[in-house]
Amino acid sequence: MYSEKVMDHFQNPRNVGEIENASGVGTVGNAKCGDIMRIYLDIDDETQVIRDCKFKTFGCGAAVATSSMATELVKGKTVQEALLVTNKAVMEALDGLPPVKVHCSLLAEEGIHAALWDYAQKHNLVIEGLQQPKSDISEEEEEEDY
Ligand code: FES
Repeated sequence: MYSEKVMDHFQNPRNVGEIENASGVGTVGNAKCGDIMRIYLDIDDETQVIRDCKFKTFGCGAAVATSSMATELVKGKTVQEALLVTNKAVMEALDGLPPVKVHCSLLAEEGIHAALWDYAQKHNLVIEGLQQPKSDISEEEEEEDY
């Protein structure tokens, strides 16, 4: 049911932990399943390149695997490029997820957006295309479900 890459990132998740004095921190949750994700970003102020990214989650295996891959993908990218790391891009990099687990990958994407938003707020920056994150990502899903 899960690809080898998903199993690998679930069993050996990359970038788990916290970043002290992070440039941006984002926390999001899904009220439906109760899972929570926190993303930490270390960003170079001159170049706006993401030097490091870590995550902590109280979430399911698919949330762990997608966050592990998402944090790998945003490292080394600029804040603008990081916006292109969507949940779809993460799922592709993992060779897919079962349809019932697609919503789990949104936690990572929204967590990264929330951390970028936090960074932008602290530095009085506007990151083009970045919208104010929601704390509960399940609101959006409900619209899609019905
Ligand atoms: Fe909640 Fe996967 S079931 S994030």
